[in-house]
Amino acid sequence: MSKPEFRSLSPAVWRASTVLFDSIDDFTSRKERLFDGYTYGVTGTPTTREFEARVAALEGAEHCVAAPSGQAALCLVALALVSAGDHVLIADSAYGPLRTFARDYLQRLGVHVETFEPTAGGEIASSFRPNTKLLFMESPGSITMEMQDIPAIVRVAKAAGVVTVLDNSWASPMGFQAIDIGIDVVVEAASKLLSGHSDVLLGTVATNDRLLYERFRTTQSVLGQAVSPDDCFLAMRGMDTLELRYEHQTAAALQVATELAEHQSVREVLFPPRLGDRAHARWATSFRGGGCVLSFVPRFQDRSSIHAFFNALQVFAIGASWGGTHSLAAFYPAAEQMRRVHCAVQEGIVRLSVGTDSASKLVTDLKQALACAAR
Ligand SMILES: Cc1ncc(COP(=O)(O)O)c(C=O)c1O
Repeated sequence: MSKPEFRSLSPAVWRASTVLFDSIDDFTSRKERLFDGYTYGVTGTPTTREFEARVAALEGAEHCVAAPSGQAALCLVALALVSAGDHVLIADSAYGPLRTFARDYLQRLGVHVETFEPTAGGEIASSFRPNTKLLFMESPGSITMEMQDIPAIVRVAKAAGVVTVLDNSWASPMGFQAIDIGIDVVVEAASKLLSGHSDVLLGTVATNDRLLYERFRTTQSVLGQAVSPDDCFLAMRGMDTLELRYEHQTAAALQVATELAEHQSVREVLFPPRLGDRAHARWATSFRGGGCVLSFVPRFQDRSSIHAFFNALQVFAIGASWGGTHSLAAFYPAAEQMRRVHCAVQEGIVRLSVGTDSASKLVTDLKQALACAAR
């Protein structure tokens, strides 16, 4: 039962598998309301809609579909839009499980998948074929942080009728307004910065294109990609502090990156907002903010030094997901980078997610752990 007379600052959590209808006519015509109303719990309740509307507003998009995780959102986009015989381009630095899905599943279904150089710009047009349907970007890319020239790629893709998709999880809509720059579909792993507390798995797909939105909603429904209203609630509670967290975490990440770049045990820091980074100019041209994730290549690559470094960390916990209030560290061995077709870094990489700890506390922790590794 609704309680319209009750008002509160927090959104209500509506849980439902069954949606009730006023009449049997409303029931039999329920599919007509798939895109703008409620039909069945799988496609959402008012809590899901509220979350989707808030994300759409942040992205500057008309429409948004929530998915059970960031990876689910990426797969949803592909499955909604490609058919056997289509050609799909994916930046070689995109999130690993997306590349695995494309290689092991889309290809099995007859889709031609090609990865491209993750620093690509407008010259990507030479890879377009008459059947190129979709182009996936992630910029900066997972772990290795290469940046694509997004405005240039958007220009040539539009001219060729190729749909552009950006995984914008690193900068989030706080740091990059993808829709504004002309991206057709923007995906967020809302598990990261948007929800912000490492306790929720959620993804979002936003677009201004009504037809694309309808394809995404239909696919989400058919695949049964239900999203928990409780998780939407938690994500919205996180989003209340997004701006504060984002400002702190991105500033602290820049400070950590700057100090690490000076350290004798560090070969290279990979963090585009840092002056001197390989991708800094590209980042500065179209991004209005950074991210809280950075990587670095340690000079020590042997197993025992890597272990000594991670065992010595006291503030950073060891873990993979990122964007939350807790600072995290992870290691990606050289073999993972070398498996890629296009990868400038061929060594083991440490990835850090900067949480809400102070930069000085994090730098102290890293310095003492680097000293342990050097011993
Ligand atoms: C850039 C990026 N995109 C997508 C994902 C997938 O998000 P989720 O963990 O919610 O599936 C991740 C997760 O690490 C990620 O780093």
